[in-house]
Amino acid sequence: MATYYDSIAQQYKKSKLLPFRLHIEAYTYFHLLGELGEKSLLDLACGEGFYTRQFKLQGAGQVVGVEISEKMIELARLEEAREPQNIEYILGDVFELGKIGSFDLVVASYLLNYAQTKEQLLKMCQSIFANLKPGGRFVTINNNDSQPPTSYLSTEKYGFIKSIASPLKEGTPIKYTFTISDSEQQLSFDNYYLGTATYEWAFQNVGFKAVRWQKPIVSPQGVEEFGQEFWQDFLDCVPIVGIECLK
Ligand SMILES: C[S@@+](CC[C@H](N)C(=O)[O-])C[C@H]1O[C@@H](n2cnc3c(N)ncnc32)[C@H](O)[C@@H]1O
Repeated sequence: MATYYDSIAQQYKKSKLLPFRLHIEAYTYFHLLGELGEKSLLDLACGEGFYTRQFKLQGAGQVVGVEISEKMIELARLEEAREPQNIEYILGDVFELGKIGSFDLVVASYLLNYAQTKEQLLKMCQSIFANLKPGGRFVTINNNDSQPPTSYLSTEKYGFIKSIASPLKEGTPIKYTFTISDSEQQLSFDNYYLGTATYEWAFQNVGFKAVRWQKPIVSPQGVEEFGQEFWQDFLDCVPIVGIECLK
């Protein structure tokens, strides 16, 4: 199951060290997730387990990670072997996952933005819905498709920019380019544009009762360390977004 992420797994892991990851991405994610105490949790597109491990540390009960890249899963399993947390990692494709359990929470950071068509998005949402208990929640961090391309360069000081080769329409690739500061090396990968209305359609179609969109928020620690002004461009252009769906 070779994927592009096999070749960028190590570099992607480094990109997780950028300050915006901790002070905005993780802070917004955990804000949406709330108390994890003993809840069962399925982490889809878990990558090398960056968040998967944190969910367990924050008190989640059963934790399962699913990821399509063999290299990413290998890194996750290495970490699990080094410091066992009783996390199960499964090599698999969310499109073909089916029902593997009945979880309190299904979570995913940057999964839905890999859907290239509304049919693919629907399929992902069906896998998510099938693995949730009634009353369970799906929480995700995703590319914000509502960000106007005119502000795609505004995030350069946070370590990444986006670009497009053609005007935005359903399925247009949006290229993320990260600069990894210790090496000045660049890391690029594509997400795919689907409009907010398509997302709303897919969530509703599979049966989610309520959907909440959450703009990024900065942690108090991030404000203290860098100052509010440093984060303002990020907050103004809203490159990423949190979403919570209730079954
Ligand atoms: C941007 S990375 C995010 C990884 C992790 N969630 C994080 O935040 O560190 C996106 C991940 O989605 C995985 N992915 C993409 N499509 C997938 C699919 N259909 N099934 C499972 N994983 C997928 C990729 O291999 C990659 O590891």
